[in-house]
Amino acid sequence: MTPTDRVRVGVLASGGGTNLQALIDATADPSHPAELVVVGADRHKAHALQRARDASIGTFVVLKRDHPDRASFDRAIVEQLQAHGVQWVCCAGFMKVAGPPLLEAFPQRILNIHPTLLPAFPGLRPHEQVIEAGVRVSGCTVHICDEGTDTGPIVAQAVVPVLPDDDVQQLQARVLRMEHRLYPMVLRWAAEGRLQVRDRTATVHLRNGESTTLFGTDV
Ligand code: GRF
Repeated sequence: MTPTDRVRVGVLASGGGTNLQALIDATADPSHPAELVVVGADRHKAHALQRARDASIGTFVVLKRDHPDRASFDRAIVEQLQAHGVQWVCCAGFMKVAGPPLLEAFPQRILNIHPTLLPAFPGLRPHEQVIEAGVRVSGCTVHICDEGTDTGPIVAQAVVPVLPDDDVQQLQARVLRMEHRLYPMVLRWAAEGRLQVRDRTATVHLRNGESTTLFGTDV
């Protein structure tokens, strides 16, 4: 695959960026169908920005406080992504729901990862919600973004056990290990044109041995 054939991907992040790192590592091979071309954040202190710089990926920061309203903030993000020729967007711990300007600029082309088995436990404090509910399994979900909070078409999920004595940190670590496997896998499908959305349902054209469900066995 020549560099020009690769699908240009922008990542949006607000925090530590371990999912970004998994995407960086997966796409470091020039034969990978996706190339990370820019990482954007809504905080200067997002460690994800440093991870991007370390990988020689361009960065930008758009601050909510520099914009009069949410639409103008979103438009500024769109401008940055478009300036880098981005074709697909991956939200990786980005603490803002994609608003209409972003959704219209990248229709059905914004992925997000959430650390629960959606549609259960969307939104904030996901692992706390899981532990409080007493459910025995949790996991993570990669979905296409729509206008809601963690509500878009589900693409793939990974399942892990919730153990009786789990605290938030233990559960989070177990889920994160699966996030780091799941997100690069889905990005590959997206970049290869094998991910389609119709009538709010996402379909992946799977090859032999592939699955949209992963089961984590290391606890
Ligand atoms: C992950 O758990 C992701 O699912 C959620 O935010 C967290 C980000 O972690 N949306 P990191 O910044 O990728 O380490």
